[in-house]
Amino acid sequence: MNQMANAALVSEAYKVPDYVQHAKLGAWVREIAALTKPEQIRWCDGSQAEYDMLCDEMVRAGTLTRLNAEKRPNSFLARSDPDDVARMEDRTFVCSATQDQAGPNNNWVAPAEMRVTLNKLFDGCMRGRTMYVIPFSMGPIGSPIAHIGIELSDSPYVAINMRIMTRMGRKALEALGSDGFFVPCVHSVGMPLAAGQKDVAWPSNKQDKYIVHFPEDKSIWSFGSGYGGNALLGKKCFALRIASIMAREQGWFAEHKLILGIESPDGRKDYVAAAFPSACGKTNLAMLVPPAEMKGWKITTVGEDIAWIKPGKDGRLYAINPESGYFGVAPGTSVESNPNAMATLHKNVIFTNVALTSDGDVWWEGMTKTPPAKLIDWQGQEWTPDCGRKAAHPNARFTVPASQCPSLDPEWENPQGVPISAFLYGGRRSEGVPLVYESFNWDSGVYAGATMGSETTAASTGAVGVVRRDPMAMLPFCGYNMADYFGHWLEMGRKLNNPPRIFSVNWFRLSSEGKFLWPGFGENMRVLKWIIERCRGQANALQTPLGWMPRFEDLDWRGLDFSREKFTDLMALDRTMLARELSEHDALFKKLELRLPRKLQLEREMLGLSLV
Ligand code: GTP
Ligand code: SPV
Ligand code: MN
Repeated sequence: MNQMANAALVSEAYKVPDYVQHAKLGAWVREIAALTKPEQIRWCDGSQAEYDMLCDEMVRAGTLTRLNAEKRPNSFLARSDPDDVARMEDRTFVCSATQDQAGPNNNWVAPAEMRVTLNKLFDGCMRGRTMYVIPFSMGPIGSPIAHIGIELSDSPYVAINMRIMTRMGRKALEALGSDGFFVPCVHSVGMPLAAGQKDVAWPSNKQDKYIVHFPEDKSIWSFGSGYGGNALLGKKCFALRIASIMAREQGWFAEHKLILGIESPDGRKDYVAAAFPSACGKTNLAMLVPPAEMKGWKITTVGEDIAWIKPGKDGRLYAINPESGYFGVAPGTSVESNPNAMATLHKNVIFTNVALTSDGDVWWEGMTKTPPAKLIDWQGQEWTPDCGRKAAHPNARFTVPASQCPSLDPEWENPQGVPISAFLYGGRRSEGVPLVYESFNWDSGVYAGATMGSETTAASTGAVGVVRRDPMAMLPFCGYNMADYFGHWLEMGRKLNNPPRIFSVNWFRLSSEGKFLWPGFGENMRVLKWIIERCRGQANALQTPLGWMPRFEDLDWRGLDFSREKFTDLMALDRTMLARELSEHDALFKKLELRLPRKLQLEREMLGLSLV
């Protein structure tokens, strides 16, 4: 073919539809297409018909398995490549102008150098594939708190997941208008297809993986992985890393927090936002079903992973959930542990890396006490209970529309957000950290959140079960220097005349026999009740060096046989342990020394003094 004819064909394949009013968007899409060289471009409209068509295509390609239509209507199973199963923190970069802006909490490469690397990787990386243009809104369309992103991806799996997780398609494009601001997100699985080359069920790049953020132009580039937070760029990359930068510039917060409503028997309602690291119980808490004996107490769900929080005119903080779906951890989810999640999962679900039953349904560890006698495991192999392998990957996930959740809060799409009465911070701590305490004030609460530790989980690649500092559950998600993030928290507190109270919780303390001391799950309602009554000035507490703690008689024990002795173990403050904690806080602060607000050092010193 001569060059001119070729150029004309390419131009036709990369044509921008007439309804696209945004000139900069059209030009950018063509520019990325010229670099990545896809076979064609598909502008996603977000319709059900488009979703169904993409699912059918993926079934034909072997990426998806359609589940039993009676048991799980309109639901699918995807099996990823066994090397592409979780977020990769060591391949995640924040390329701000200086390394100091990214901070010791982020991998950093100079932006110019990273652009050279990425240009090489993305050159021709979509050959033989379709590039999907995925317009999406984080937050209800048109909300003053919402922001728009456009993801260009060569993965249809990403396109269908984005339709569940965000407000995706034509309506987001309309909201963008002809000159609106959008966050440009480029994603490729990094496996171009040569002419005639057969595709694999889960394409990815075995050699190179990069998840890159450029704070200066607020753009995101992701290469080589098709999984979760690496590929659904609206979630961690935009709604947390880039949004945290925007939030600091504009005076708000983008947080790794669930948002739930608590209604007491008298009909009064409060909202709480709670930070737990990945796979540490946000989804469970957000959908909690209170014990039957605590009649009249009710929990409703606004969000289960991310909160965007802004000060209102009344000096309170208001939160929205920027997402419209849940990308939740499957293992451990059961009718006992999370009945609302199980009910949400009845239809329209994309399951990733769970096991397949012989009748075309799904199973994972913890779903039922007795596993089925035979399964196909997450890698497509035959599985029996005695085979010594896990049937589902520990980070197997479901993607499901929030609208299907029975505990959904009526205000969940309120564009103004819901007012927050309390912030909770909780890690996975088997030793030494009590069930609950309330910080003395905003600054001591920021200190508690900033210094929280947690044992690592399968949500990220790397070692599991190691205690690390995970400030406010944001260690993998804060898009700038953590010391400046602490400063932002302290400063915002000064501006609020009605700040939320701050609590720390730990559901994961173990007995000397290695069993959980606290039953957790629905029983966490007892802790939430005390927290909300503290906010309302109705509950008593004991003053301790860490803060205010409930005594045995301050919690509601109706329907739970829990001894005073066990409660003492659960709440015990061990001075040796606290001294060790303080030295770990010190180690964290040393890393952040150059920009750490002095107020946090003072908080640490005061805590140290109260222990001697
Ligand atoms: P991401 O989606 O990764 O951000 O995580 P998440 O915080 O939403 O995780 P999720 O709620 O799915 O956490 C699941 C894990 O937490 C499972 O291992 C549960 O068994 C455990 N879990 C949740 N609540 C409790 C609890 O109250 N007690 C105990 N012991 N475990 C809990
Ligand atoms: C997390 O790891 O905190 C998640 C899952 O919520 S992912 O979207 O894969 O990051
Ligand atoms: Mn998360």
